[in-house]
Amino acid sequence: MTAFAPAAPRRAIQDLPDELISQIAAGEVVERPASVVRELVDNALDAGATQITVRLLAGGVRLIAVEDDGCGIPREELPVALRRHATSKIRDLQELEHVGTMGFRGEALAAIASVSETSILSRLDGEDKAWLLEARSGELRPAPRNRGTTLEVKELFFSTPARRKFLKSDATELAHCIESVRRHALARPDVGFAIWHEGKLVEQWRAVPLAEGADRNEALARRLGDVLGDDFIANSIAVQRTSASSGITVYGRAGLPDAARSRPDQQYCYVNGRFVRDKVLTHAAKSAYEDVLHGHKQPIYALYVEMDPARVDVNVHPTKIEVRFRDSREVHQAIKHAVEDALAAPRAALLADAAQAPLTEANAPAAPASLGWQPSTSPVRAPMAPQVQYAMPLQEVAGHKVNDLQALWAPLREATPAPSAS
Ligand SMILES: Nc1ncnc2c1ncn2[C@@H]1O[C@H](COP(=O)(O)OP(=O)(O)OP(=O)(O)O)[C@@H](O)[C@H]1O
Ligand SMILES: [Mg+2]
Repeated sequence: MTAFAPAAPRRAIQDLPDELISQIAAGEVVERPASVVRELVDNALDAGATQITVRLLAGGVRLIAVEDDGCGIPREELPVALRRHATSKIRDLQELEHVGTMGFRGEALAAIASVSETSILSRLDGEDKAWLLEARSGELRPAPRNRGTTLEVKELFFSTPARRKFLKSDATELAHCIESVRRHALARPDVGFAIWHEGKLVEQWRAVPLAEGADRNEALARRLGDVLGDDFIANSIAVQRTSASSGITVYGRAGLPDAARSRPDQQYCYVNGRFVRDKVLTHAAKSAYEDVLHGHKQPIYALYVEMDPARVDVNVHPTKIEVRFRDSREVHQAIKHAVEDALAAPRAALLADAAQAPLTEANAPAAPASLGWQPSTSPVRAPMAPQVQYAMPLQEVAGHKVNDLQALWAPLREATPAPSAS
């Protein structure tokens, strides 16, 4: 058709059929098997599960089954769970503004069911049997199961072959599915996760019980070690800081400068337990490393921001991976200071240590102060981690320059949306 082709004759405005509306919504919510895994694990966590098992066939394209031991769904509500805009999680605008659950839009299951063969099997506590609902046929029948819910999603995009063509190899889709569960697992050390592919156990992260009053950073460090490897723990420092002015708490772990990588593939940020991608958060974390990381090195970290839910809008995109802060600046400050404090602690220990030690050739400072922390080949006492050794700049560099902070805040002042996910 050329730019000058006559316009097609006008067609009457009509309501779209329900199924098509869900399929259109599915375009946003369900991009690939990993998106289904994300939504189903979100639901299992919202149901209070302590153990979640994900079973996949063909990278999740042929089957995604997510089993939980959560509260279950009553028989009469099973068909409602699959309806668009039906949710048990919020009732009104006020609840939306303070939402504490992973889901709240009431659209994930409807969207998933519109582009796959979906079934729900669920049993409530105190019931003598479970009920199985086949979404497509609407058939509901009793079936065996313990308390909890199993969602089965088969043949994803079978009705929308164009979408199916965008999928990558099974191995790639599997890797995305695992990453999706990993993001949840890093937020919930108290929940056990297992992933099976083609009948083989590919990942298992056991629950780390959190006794009352126990240090959550300890449980978190165990889970981070299980999921990201012991190196992540050995090469990182605990972060824990509550900002007196904003009340925002930031905890987790920040990698030592030496552990920085060429790609930003070990950067996990959570806001109120939700994995998010947000420029304010990544900029804040990066700026804390400004004096100690050079070039394009990417720090590693897992940072958890706890803040008043009324001060962060999670209803920005159906996938909820983007958020909008009421005051980006306070969040930026809270993260930057928390990470700076954590990085300063071992440096301060080294400086104190250096002050006590007689200055010899072996422990003399090897780098100019302006370069901050420099990896050194000369032996230094009291390294922070067995494999990391640093020379000691004896003079601290004062302040941190964040050159493009102005740019970061500028859109806010003009009342345009805050910068968010890439
Ligand atoms: N594993 C589960 N255990 C218990 N209830 C569940 C489970 N999965 C879904 N539900 C119920 O089904 C409802 C619909 O789920 P769905 O994921 O479509 O919407 P939601 O989680 O409320 O919102 P969102 O679309 O943001 O995910 C939920 O509100 C919940 O009551
Ligand atoms: Mg949901």
